[in-house]
Amino acid sequence: WPRVWQWACREDHIPEAGDYYVYDVGHLSAIVLRTESGEIKAYYNACMHRGTQLKEPGSCGYSPELKCPFHGWTWSLDGELTELPQAWDFPHANEDSHRLPEMPVDTWAGFVFINFDQNAGPLEDYLGVLPDHFADFNLEDRYVEIHMQKRLPANWKASAEAFLEAYHVKETHAGGRQWSEPATQYDVFGDNVTRFIHTVGSPCPLAEPVPSEQELLEALWQRRVEDEVIPTVPEGMTARDVYADFIRDQFAEKYEQDFSHISTAQALDSIEYFLFPNAFIFPGLSLPMVYRFRPDPVDPDFCTFDLLFLRPKPLDG
Ligand code: FES
Repeated sequence: WPRVWQWACREDHIPEAGDYYVYDVGHLSAIVLRTESGEIKAYYNACMHRGTQLKEPGSCGYSPELKCPFHGWTWSLDGELTELPQAWDFPHANEDSHRLPEMPVDTWAGFVFINFDQNAGPLEDYLGVLPDHFADFNLEDRYVEIHMQKRLPANWKASAEAFLEAYHVKETHAGGRQWSEPATQYDVFGDNVTRFIHTVGSPCPLAEPVPSEQELLEALWQRRVEDEVIPTVPEGMTARDVYADFIRDQFAEKYEQDFSHISTAQALDSIEYFLFPNAFIFPGLSLPMVYRFRPDPVDPDFCTFDLLFLRPKPLDG
């Protein structure tokens, strides 16, 4: 955690000057904020006087400056020491010696990334294939529809591992149902990125007899939209094609955008990218989840879980 890039929040969390977001991971804490010039900066959440946390862990909101709650030393949003009570008693302290040290911060796809290591390499190098693979998903044009956070009674690594495979689906999600395993492809891209894709609406390769396209469509439709008339799969089309068209139309209406360029895989499939050490990003249209697990500061048998749904911003904003 002290040496890796990790997403702290979305740019949406800090849209205006003075907006801040405290990101905590284990015993580490950072303040991410928007300055008057619109720049995003990140600081260690620790006072330069005696290390008191400048902002409450887990807090966010608006703050025109950073004032320590202990003795009142105060910094501007740019990290400049602007107020030092009884300054005559601190002849060694001045703007140069006691600026707030900045942490490396950068953005990608609407996420704000920070690194507690001042000597960190560029975020771009760390992300590897992600910018290229996400070029068509436009995550930077999404908004946070839901952000849920929970403290879970589980170790963060054990939790994260469960989301790196689809091997558990048959027992955990399908109650042991025969041939319910999804067909899944796993890929490893360099040091920090892995991916799994499992196709929605295609039969398990082990299934016997092989279901018809109409049976597959009915399975898809019943699962997502109850009590609707299910269309017939036209000759030459697959259940996936028909259902992907439905999803594109449904999203076009809801988000007032054209999704005709989105491929069937992008519209339907469970596509998950994992960015070491703890970020899970599902860029697909119908399952636009992002989540992460963070170690608890005191108890290794607990972790913090964040789940976000990132939906396309309607054109009117
Ligand atoms: Fe922050 Fe003293 S500890 S002002």
